Amino acid sequence: MLPVLLISVRSTAIGIDTPISSNQDTTAFVSPFQEDNERCFKCHGQSIYEYTNENLGRQVKALMFSERIIERKNFYGSNHKSFSCTDCHSEEYTSFPHSGQLRMEQQYNCIDCHGGDEKFAKFNFEAIEADYQASVHFKLEEGGFTCWKCHNPHEYKISARNSNNLKETILFDNNICLNCHANFSHFQLLTNRDEINILAKHDWLPNQSSHFKSVRCIECHAEVNNNVLISHLINPKEKAVRKCNECHSQNSLLMSSLYKFESKEQRKDGFFNGIIMNESYVIGANRNEYLNVFSLIIFGLVILIICGHLFFRLRKKQNK
Ligand code: HEC
Ligand code: HEC
Ligand code: HEC
Ligand code: HEC
Ligand code: HEC
Ligand code: HEC
Ligand code: HEC
Repeated sequence: MLPVLLISVRSTAIGIDTPISSNQDTTAFVSPFQEDNERCFKCHGQSIYEYTNENLGRQVKALMFSERIIERKNFYGSNHKSFSCTDCHSEEYTSFPHSGQLRMEQQYNCIDCHGGDEKFAKFNFEAIEADYQASVHFKLEEGGFTCWKCHNPHEYKISARNSNNLKETILFDNNICLNCHANFSHFQLLTNRDEINILAKHDWLPNQSSHFKSVRCIECHAEVNNNVLISHLINPKEKAVRKCNECHSQNSLLMSSLYKFESKEQRKDGFFNGIIMNESYVIGANRNEYLNVFSLIIFGLVILIICGHLFFRLRKKQNK
């Protein structure tokens, strides 16, 4: 009986990782710069673009490289959806061919706009910046590494904070890393190192594919930091988590990383399930005070019924 009970409690606990989130729907968004942006999207919005070749005196069709294509849907669903392309890029990009000089264009960094701004205080950009500067990737800045390399300027949309689906967040976050660590041409842009085979490097992990769907790269590779939701201090490989019991234990490190926000939110809502989740959804250790008491009560009841049954049977026998 108890195992059945546990399974059902567990599955509802998993089922409610759906915090109701207010800022989800983006399909209805209409940008004040929609028309302006079409000046760029007419070429950068799909794989074919057209321009007038003045020497030939006719329209020419050409292919846009995939790296230069921006999906309208993704842009208007992103955190910076309300921007005009020319808020971040020079107005001169409206002319084609683009001037070669534009390649030297300097880009703003996140902190230039978000640093010290009350409105974004909850993200703690300053702490993120400090973590990033201590991380393994920071030394690659000279070769062009920036926050934008993980936060695609045209598509990034916070996931973990607003998520109603843990698996989706895990996939989204891991894809940020795999964009380089499983794509050698992107990796090569930044280092002369040989290709690192991620699957082979993690073959010590049993059920690898299942683990990669249940935890994020940053769980093992980033230093836990309680001042931010997503730790940005990626350590050198020597410091990565390898011991199973760092996660598979009562005080799993996942409670201060992957499950951090979820459990906090649900605590705020005063959700009973939230407490169950906080207390018992520790992988590999389904202990819970309420369940303990509950199971004791059930145990007591069962004993009582058996005794009662025995009592009546004995009496019946005596009466015969
Ligand atoms: C007529 C088609 C066309 C239009 C319109 C156009 N682009 Fe481009 N753009 C291209 C092509 C082709 C490339 C790749 C070749 C190159 O770099 O010139 C490119 C490259 C770029 C690059 C990358 C430059 C680099 O560093 O390599 C940026 C940034 C860019 N465009 C921004 C814009 C913006 C912003 C707009 C709108 C204001 C815009 N483009 C409008 C065709 C276009
Ligand atoms: C929030 C600022 C921001 C906005 C808004 C923005 N871009 Fe960009 N864009 C950047 C940055 C930063 C880069 C350089 C990315 C990198 O270094 O990886 C970039 C790079 C590009 C590139 C070169 C390809 C690439 O991904 O490296 C193109 C093309 C481009 N932008 C077009 C556009 C178009 C078209 C729009 C409008 C739909 C737009 N951008 C809106 C910041 C922005
Ligand atoms: C040019 C200034 C500028 C730059 C550079 C910039 N942002 Fe923003 N960002 C903004 C503004 C303004 C908003 C608010 C947009 C809105 O409300 O529509 C915003 C919104 C956001 C949001 C959503 C905030 C919320 O409350 O939902 C996130 C997350 C974010 N930015 C992250 C970043 C990251 C990460 C970077 C760097 C990779 C970055 N931004 C770079 C100006 C900027
Ligand atoms: C190595 C990759 C990487 C780099 C570099 C990086 N980030 Fe992130 N960042 C992530 C990942 C992964 C997430 C989690 C995305 C999610 O689920 O929203 C994240 C999330 C965030 C968030 C949302 C946190 C929240 O509380 O919701 C902010 C803000 C942010 N990053 C800012 C920055 C800034 C600023 C920089 C540069 C100083 C930066 N990031 C550099 C990988 C990176
Ligand atoms: C834009 C490309 C890019 C992205 C995105 C990226 N990395 Fe990296 N990463 C690199 C490169 C290049 C190196 C090699 C640095 C060097 O030359 O030693 C590296 C190194 C590392 C190392 C250190 C390996 C060692 O030898 O100690 C770890 C760990 C790592 N990355 C994890 C991550 C994680 C986790 C994420 C996602 C949150 C991520 N990376 C995202 C490009 C990237
Ligand atoms: C369960 C913990 C765990 C997870 C999850 C994990 N890693 Fe690792 N990773 C490690 C450990 C431990 C090492 C060190 C292996 C060694 O010393 O050979 C490592 C090594 C690495 C290296 C360095 C390889 C080398 O030899 O230079 C990179 C890069 C890396 N991981 C990236 C990632 C990425 C990207 C993800 C997500 C898809 C990820 N890791 C997920 C624990 C993990
Ligand atoms: C970064 C945290 C982390 C580390 C480190 C870790 N695991 Fe896991 N493991 C998980 C999570 C999360 C799950 C999925 C649990 C769930 O869905 O309830 C899991 C699932 C499993 C499963 C069940 C797999 C399945 O297919 O259902 C086994 C077996 C397992 N881990 C063994 C190990 C062993 C052995 C190690 C050490 C070599 C290890 N784990 C290290 C987080 C971790």
